Amino acid sequence: MKFFIDTANIDQIREMQELGIIDGVTTNPSLLSKEGAEPIEQLEKICEIVDGPISAEVVGLTTEEMVKEARDLSKIAPNIVIKIPMTKDGIKAVKILEKEGIKTNVTLVFSQNQVLIAAKAGASYISPFIGRLMDNGQNEIDMLRESMEIINAYGFKSEIIVASIRNARHVIEAARIGSHIATIPFAVLEKMFKHPRTDEGLDAFLKDWEKLQDKLKNQ
Ligand code: E4P
Repeated sequence: MKFFIDTANIDQIREMQELGIIDGVTTNPSLLSKEGAEPIEQLEKICEIVDGPISAEVVGLTTEEMVKEARDLSKIAPNIVIKIPMTKDGIKAVKILEKEGIKTNVTLVFSQNQVLIAAKAGASYISPFIGRLMDNGQNEIDMLRESMEIINAYGFKSEIIVASIRNARHVIEAARIGSHIATIPFAVLEKMFKHPRTDEGLDAFLKDWEKLQDKLKNQ
């Protein structure tokens, strides 16, 4: 399973990249807006840190606007992937861009039908937003499981990026289902590292080691 980090924050990306657990990055207009920097420059910096796929989202709403923006964004670096919203115009843009060799990530996906349409359009990546589904009172794990069944049943080339992850349990469920990728916020990645018993255990081992050293010195 691949891990992407779901942020546009340089420090967070660098920290997780240095730990060697990051295969790519996903951004969106809200995440870039949070950083407050010029978006193209920010994406350039991200591409310098991580050489895996970096998702950058279009903001145009028509096919024509999306295709134009995507062609411009794809010049930032060879690993840029274009995030396209799950609309009729978006799906038309996906077909055009994939034919040109520009990889797309269909975003704002909330149903199994939308997954099927995006896969048929030839998207390289599809992003179901499981946290927002959960917020809406829907069963996000069933949606994810059925989406993976659809992709696997027909051998679609699209990889599922589990997005809008809210907690560490979401990552476990995504892995159990065999999702290709999880795009994980920094705070959730931090929680995945930690367990109180690890800290307690380490503390106890070190104290016992010190006791042994003292005993040996006094012999
Ligand atoms: C990633 O591709 C999405 O933009 C992101 O996971 C959305 O997460 P949110 O629902 O927490 O905004």
